Amino acid sequence: MNFGDDFAWGVATAAYQIEGAVREDGRGESIWDRFCATPGNVVDGSSGADACDHYRLWRRDVAHMKWLGLRAYRFSLAWPRILPGGKGLVNERGLAFYERLVDALLEAGIEPYVTLYHWDLPQVLEDAGGWPARATAEAFAEYANAVTRRLGDRVKHWITHNEPWCVSMLGYRDGIQAPGHKMPAAALAAAHHVLLSHGWAMHAIRANVRAARAGIALNLVPAEPASASAADADACRASDGAANRWFLDPLYGRGYPVDVIADRLRDGSLASSTMPFALRGDFEAIATPTDFLGINYYMRDIARSSLPDNEPATVRPTDELTAMGWEVWPDGLEGILRRVHERYAPPAIYVTENGAAYDDPGPNGQGPVADPARTSYLERHLRAAGRAIAAGVPLKGYFLWSLMDNFEWSCGYTKRFGILWTDYATQERSPKESAHFYRGVIARGGLGGVP
Ligand code: FCB
Repeated sequence: MNFGDDFAWGVATAAYQIEGAVREDGRGESIWDRFCATPGNVVDGSSGADACDHYRLWRRDVAHMKWLGLRAYRFSLAWPRILPGGKGLVNERGLAFYERLVDALLEAGIEPYVTLYHWDLPQVLEDAGGWPARATAEAFAEYANAVTRRLGDRVKHWITHNEPWCVSMLGYRDGIQAPGHKMPAAALAAAHHVLLSHGWAMHAIRANVRAARAGIALNLVPAEPASASAADADACRASDGAANRWFLDPLYGRGYPVDVIADRLRDGSLASSTMPFALRGDFEAIATPTDFLGINYYMRDIARSSLPDNEPATVRPTDELTAMGWEVWPDGLEGILRRVHERYAPPAIYVTENGAAYDDPGPNGQGPVADPARTSYLERHLRAAGRAIAAGVPLKGYFLWSLMDNFEWSCGYTKRFGILWTDYATQERSPKESAHFYRGVIARGGLGGVP
């Protein structure tokens, strides 16, 4: 399996999930600080206040990355560290942290891939309306400009947003992620402003970074009908429309898909097909050309109509589940990569996240933490990625989620996705077997020779 010499072998993390130090060096409050403070929002009542203490231990973490042999590291900047007021004055100490980190990565031969927004909106901006308000998109463009001016001489790879579907739908429609609102109409406005701010940020990146490579990371969920019935075919269309095409179509110049607009008019989350939040020029901005598309892949959806007289299902999930209850389905990765390539033809694609949580045993002082299920998950997904490359998909890198166990949003510290075990009491990291496996894959430049 040939991944090519330039393949970006990486891992991914996000600021709020690893940094801790939420009151350090002038950082402002984020919506996740506020969300976690409400009992019931995070299963174990925890927050990212300490997380992996990466804000202090980053040198050690870079040393772990070097040991792994990583070529690339995807991490996010905490907007409230850099602009504690959401806009306006830049907090030098916050920005200096990322400068030191970037310099250390470059020194270690690891290419930084910087995500501008991985969910930690400054709380002041939420108080002023959050993503459903257009002003938040304007503030994001200002933030993108400020950081690319400063880091653009060293950071070439930029990812504007992480998973706009989660930001808008889990945050503003379902209320299970920050800021925790249940307002379906506002969620569509939120999604629009996230996409719009992506387009505006692309312009800031191009203006400030010479030879920039920039794009966005979407969580895509390939849908399959549960049976050959017309009802399941329609459920599949609707699922794919809401999760994938609602974001991909406008990014690639096609506007919002009309069939999904019809679905949203039917369920009442859109009052009119003219969509008051979409102003003249927005679709051109959203479709600003990018250099790559980032795909976060975790699961498929087996779409099933709820009609009582529907045909019996012929496609059922396998019984192989991760600790999140997510089905392990490597073929879905190959499928979504091929489909995006065929339908939208981005110049390059990265898997910007893929990985699994398991209930790993802790370190026992005798060799690496045993996580055979994660190792197997990783190997099979890499094979799927390799098949996509063989089929002609311009896949340029793979970022494993995640470097180390960390704060898993509303699951708190109960789910471990790391290839390094995190001991939260001592902040020791210990490599799991999957870390050794991935290290070997990177050293060989692929799966060749791996039994
Ligand atoms: C993705 C998020 C990432 C992590 C993984 C498990 O949706 O982008 O931060 O929580 O899921």
